[in-house]
Amino acid sequence: MRIVALVGQKGGVGKTTTTMNLAAVMSKHSRVLVVDVDPQGSTTWWAENAGESLPFDFAADVDPNNLARLRELPYDAIFVDTPGSLEDTAVLSAVLDVADFVILPLNPEPLNTPALVRTVRQHVQPRDLPFRILLSKMDRRRPGQLEDWEQLIDDGLKMPRFKQYVRLYAAHSDAPLQGKVVTQYADTRQNANAIFDYTHVAMELMALWANQTTTVGSK
Ligand SMILES: Nc1ncnc2c1ncn2[C@@H]1O[C@H](COP(=O)(O)OP(=O)(O)O)[C@@H](O)[C@H]1O
Ligand SMILES: [Mg+2]
Repeated sequence: MRIVALVGQKGGVGKTTTTMNLAAVMSKHSRVLVVDVDPQGSTTWWAENAGESLPFDFAADVDPNNLARLRELPYDAIFVDTPGSLEDTAVLSAVLDVADFVILPLNPEPLNTPALVRTVRQHVQPRDLPFRILLSKMDRRRPGQLEDWEQLIDDGLKMPRFKQYVRLYAAHSDAPLQGKVVTQYADTRQNANAIFDYTHVAMELMALWANQTTTVGSK
């Protein structure tokens, strides 16, 4: 069992979108639970719109202090979506205390970078938690953007990132209202890349885990 925390002390970077879509891809082969500890409840709203069609289990409004108990549940992966706020370090700490892995979405907006670096240095690295930055909402119409940001993470921040990035697509921003996750997007040419991105991030994550030695049932 892996408990994955989606983290970033900044709203709007793609934590909720990434939580729902990675959970969806992984639920094709694994038993997956998504946990919403964000009082804003955007994941919960999305899950309510999906109703019965959600391909994984969902727990809303979970008290972060009860997260340790989740480890006894029969899931292969639990994704915990966290609030994006600088004030919520108590919630963040409670989640990171039980997490095995941390994903930090980063958008190509320079002003977002200091918050991410601070979160990693103050909360993730001191706990020795494996983590990856995920470049999200990348604008494919901006030549050079991807290369610049990959270089910033690799050579500037010297932090690990997913090789796969997530591009900006209307399909993703429309999905919460429709209650859809990436595995349910219409298989059209427009959606092909949007489906590809999250599918490949999930595959990279599973490959990473396959190479990590862990004791079953513990961290
Ligand atoms: N790859 C993407 N392409 C287009 N829109 C996106 C993408 N990722 C997120 N969004 C949209 O951006 C907004 C913020 O994303 P969200 O996942 O809610 O971020 P967070 O949980 O970090 O606040 C939402 O409206 C969401 O639909
Ligand atoms: Mg959110």
